Amino acid sequence: MKRIVLASVLLFFFFSNGAAAAAMTDTSYNLYKDPKKPINARIKDLMSKMTLAEKIGQMMQIERINATAQIMKEYSIGSILSGGGSVPRPRASPEEWVKMVNNFQTGSLSSRLGIPMIYGIDAVHGHNNVYNATIFPHNIAIGATRDPNLAKRIGAATAVEVRATGIPYAFGPCIAVCRDPRWGRCYESYSEDPNVVKAMTTIIIGLQGEPPNKGIPYVGGKDKVVACAKHFVGDGGTVKGINENNTIATWHQLLTIHMPAYYDSIINGVSTIMVSYSSLNGVKMHADRDLITGFLKNKLQFKGFVISDYQGIDKISSPPYSNYTYSIEKSILAGIDMVMGIYSHTDFLEILTSLVMQKIIPISRIDDAVSRILRVKFTAGLFENPLSDLSRIDSIGSEAHRELAREAVRKSLVLLKNGENSDSLVLPLPKNPSRILVAGTHADNLGYQCGGWTMTWQGFSGNNLTEGTTILNAIRDAVDPATNVIYSENPEPGFVKSSNFSYAIVVIGEGSYAEGYGDSMNLTILEPGPTIITNVCVNVKCVVVLISGRPLVIKPYLESMNAVVAAWLPGTEGRGVSDVLFGDYGFTGKLPRTWFKTVDQLPMNVGDQHYDPLFPFGFGLTTN
Ligand code: GLC
Repeated sequence: MKRIVLASVLLFFFFSNGAAAAAMTDTSYNLYKDPKKPINARIKDLMSKMTLAEKIGQMMQIERINATAQIMKEYSIGSILSGGGSVPRPRASPEEWVKMVNNFQTGSLSSRLGIPMIYGIDAVHGHNNVYNATIFPHNIAIGATRDPNLAKRIGAATAVEVRATGIPYAFGPCIAVCRDPRWGRCYESYSEDPNVVKAMTTIIIGLQGEPPNKGIPYVGGKDKVVACAKHFVGDGGTVKGINENNTIATWHQLLTIHMPAYYDSIINGVSTIMVSYSSLNGVKMHADRDLITGFLKNKLQFKGFVISDYQGIDKISSPPYSNYTYSIEKSILAGIDMVMGIYSHTDFLEILTSLVMQKIIPISRIDDAVSRILRVKFTAGLFENPLSDLSRIDSIGSEAHRELAREAVRKSLVLLKNGENSDSLVLPLPKNPSRILVAGTHADNLGYQCGGWTMTWQGFSGNNLTEGTTILNAIRDAVDPATNVIYSENPEPGFVKSSNFSYAIVVIGEGSYAEGYGDSMNLTILEPGPTIITNVCVNVKCVVVLISGRPLVIKPYLESMNAVVAAWLPGTEGRGVSDVLFGDYGFTGKLPRTWFKTVDQLPMNVGDQHYDPLFPFGFGLTTN
């Protein structure tokens, strides 16, 4: 009798709970692959199946040039990146990008557990590695717009172009608070004012989507990407702006200047945070357990994953790169979850495995790292949609995105001088004079116009690496067809004097640079810019347009310039400059940074006790 009862109970159980029963009996069922299951359950199930080697594999991000599908399969590597300028080939098409990423992904999917990899890239002002992508103004320009909604829209447009190439992860936004313009990355910072930087973290919502639950990592579908707030923390406060150097700050200064935008980023659902190369009060950030684990993870309750900067752990040892074991031990114990730019995945696997087996690094630390990485991958939908299609390729450099970038350029321009008084206004310029002069090293140079992190890591000079509109061509398009536009990069003063120009537009500034290569102790205009100002502006009414990632020395020339416009690094859409020069739109931009008189005043920021700028933070003339 009992057997009959037992059999009937089992039968009832089997048919009434088909799936569950199947699960109990079918050993091939993997809960982690079931999108209907809660993410926590999927993480737990997958982690329970992973070997230590597979867990450590997920903590590695290798450069594209060191990756193969076979390595991804064999070592279950968690991520691949394209460093600055790391492309399938010059002018690679979106199809070639998608093919490359899918090839690596196919390797990952054929690993024992089929965990998808996540491909990351620096899309920091549009999809800036990709030919014909829309290049938006750099962050300093967006800070000048004071328009958080614009930042959000730029994030959304950038996300679509990034996904169009098969990539689901962008290493942005940089939320540095640059406190010294001598820093080569100051243009990556929205402002010297933490409140402006906080406001612009709306870009994260554009990139990832609006989080349903504030403070929880979120990625809203196939038109969105995983974002990365960087570089944690204090990267913009180093001594004299020296890149990767030491930031000296009291706890109060850290919490009121450099930390606030991380609160907002986490509330906005940022999925990853990148650690800074710099040190804080002499402690390397990549080894700072108190701030990464104690404060970011425990106090701020950040639930995404923390990624190192490119070989950032290698620079912990002294001298840098001298003790890989020490670097791995200190950085992983500090709380770094994914290590960027590993040059030998076998060495990393061997060393970290040994540190765990010796109990120098507890397995609980590894499990924390891997669970965070898997949380982001599940949230990003990578298990359901690991491979990309070509459905978005028309978004790259689309008319709509270029018009958005043009709007951003317009709103970013800051008018510093417009004649000597209201009776001698220079701007807006008339469109129909008979002859005008356009001069300067930056008038016909798309590379300079875009700045660093464009097509190559350091950016470029010239017009041949991508598609866009130079300021010269924008001017040509804007004026009356009957107007004769004469272009001369560095005209002789006699020519200027004798040519009967109605006015001149002089476009000068800085060359392109990125990171430490942009560190500058003198902040001067690229030669022969100052000479061009003198040769032109002494002989004809002139508007000087400055293309730069930061304030430059202009005080010696200010008197000779009839009008001065700070245009920052506007990107591919030069028409945004002509729109405002000729009055189709008014000047509305406000300085996101203090404009110094001389470099020996630096660092000098709004709110300082001794504050004697040429133009103060927030300054900006308007035209209607
Ligand atoms: C660089 C930068 C970082 C970038 C990373 C990947 O060194 O510091 O901002 O995201 O490496 O290119």
